[in-house]
Amino acid sequence: MSATSSGGEWANRRTYAIISHPDAGKTTLTENLLFAAGSIRMAGQVRARGENRRTHSDWMKIEQDRGISVSASVMTYEHKGLIFNLLDTPGHEDFSEDTYRTLTAADSAIMVLDAAKGVEPRTLKLVEVCRLRDIPILTFINKLDREALAPEELLDDIQDKLALDTAPMQWPAASGKRFGGVMDLQTDEFIPFKPEDGELASGTRIPADAVEKTLSPDVFAELQEGTEMARLLCPEFKPQSFLEGHMTPVYFGSALRRYGIIELLDALADIVPGPQTEKAIIKKAESEVTPDGKEVSGFVFKVQANMDPNHRDRVAFLRLASGKFKRGMKLKTDKGKSLTVSSPIMFFAQDREIADVAFAGDVIGIPNHGLLRVGDSLSESGDILFAGIPNFAPEILRRARLADPLKAKHLKKALESLAEEGVTQLFRPVIGGDFIVGAVGQLQIEVMAERVSAEYGLDVTFEAAPYETARWMLGEEAEIERFADRHKSAIAADIDGDPVFLAKSTWEVSYSEEKWPDIKFVKAKERNR
Ligand code: G4P
Repeated sequence: MSATSSGGEWANRRTYAIISHPDAGKTTLTENLLFAAGSIRMAGQVRARGENRRTHSDWMKIEQDRGISVSASVMTYEHKGLIFNLLDTPGHEDFSEDTYRTLTAADSAIMVLDAAKGVEPRTLKLVEVCRLRDIPILTFINKLDREALAPEELLDDIQDKLALDTAPMQWPAASGKRFGGVMDLQTDEFIPFKPEDGELASGTRIPADAVEKTLSPDVFAELQEGTEMARLLCPEFKPQSFLEGHMTPVYFGSALRRYGIIELLDALADIVPGPQTEKAIIKKAESEVTPDGKEVSGFVFKVQANMDPNHRDRVAFLRLASGKFKRGMKLKTDKGKSLTVSSPIMFFAQDREIADVAFAGDVIGIPNHGLLRVGDSLSESGDILFAGIPNFAPEILRRARLADPLKAKHLKKALESLAEEGVTQLFRPVIGGDFIVGAVGQLQIEVMAERVSAEYGLDVTFEAAPYETARWMLGEEAEIERFADRHKSAIAADIDGDPVFLAKSTWEVSYSEEKWPDIKFVKAKERNR
């Protein structure tokens, strides 16, 4: 099906993310997918680029010290006539907010599992997040070149822990030193693993009846038994069930040995969906935006500061949801602010380039001086408001204390700016002049503190706040005002000016819920709802 016959360029876009527990091999897989797609000349560049960036941006010292990737990015490549946008999600557990936002911009995900470990805690959390939007998940079981759990054990693990039906698309012949390759259960061809190859080993295919000659008798027997069992007991791949997020097709390989990579690229081209219809509010009515819609629209799922250390600009990552975007276009935010997008950036693995046109499914970077915030919707009319990029109730709250109280204005600017980027949240209690900073994870607080010091030159300590958690309130305005009046010392305004209840304990939240049944105390706030 060509793009034009199916209605437009957007139909050629495949936008996905890779999710995994740290160390399962997400970085290695990303590098090798890009390498195999011809997008980077040399594997290792993803990491190398990261290192370059780090040396240029001192404020990212934490990233360097901890050897983790704090920022998510997007990489574009072509394969089989389709344009893929790979969204990189940060691996660290503390960055669940950032990861969640990135996943709102993906139409599917690859879940990478370490074959020796199966489903790990972080995998579980990420799949929960994918499930909020029911995005289809494709599984890649990595590190088959090391001793692995039995394939059936791994499939059971996915089924039990993630409640996903598993459809093995391949079956591995042993693992570790004895790893011989995988049988493609769809075509009945065997893809041998040659450890000496190194160069994108996959590609050669042997018909099933000739496999015996290529494997040692014990490995062959194991493969025979495994594939028979898989055919008898495992469900067949059902595309509809995959698209609805109930079934995951399972592939096996070794990212490090570049084995199974081409098969994975092909699988992505064959089965993952293109841009999806997005829920939106148009002129105050619940509605939808379809990727074939004429009006250009999209939403900001990430804001990154200092990509170019010589400028203080921020780059907003816009996921396009409809229309044909053209460079120089004038777009409006849902708040009515307008901007001319004169130098939109597209991200290729080696480079950033100015985008002249972009379509639904594409991600463009929009440099701006602070106009765009995470969660903003952009469209030609300014009437479209996309739902679904929430703020989460912070699990850590800190009070910022300035060494020099005369710098309060600077601190306000710094903390507001970081809140707009989505690094941390900011709450201003209605009584007193405190700045309360909230985050889901400790690392968010550390990144924020580092940046307040490095970028704004402020000497600030972040001390324990007298609150444990925060809740947004939904209900009649008068009732919320009555509650706020009674609890003045525990009410703050968030970055949008919405009232937030700062509670001393979760017990206090439950107590308030009981006493004020007409108010809903919610843990996540979808912007603009
Ligand atoms: P992550 O992004 O999910 O955290 O994982 P990453 O790719 O950084 O991989 C984690 C470790 O696992 C790395 O080793 C990497 O080389 C190794 N690895 C990834 N894929 C495979 C595979 O298919 N087989 C084997 N045997 N190892 C694999 P490291 O020693 O921590 O780092 P490095 O020194 O190799 O960079």
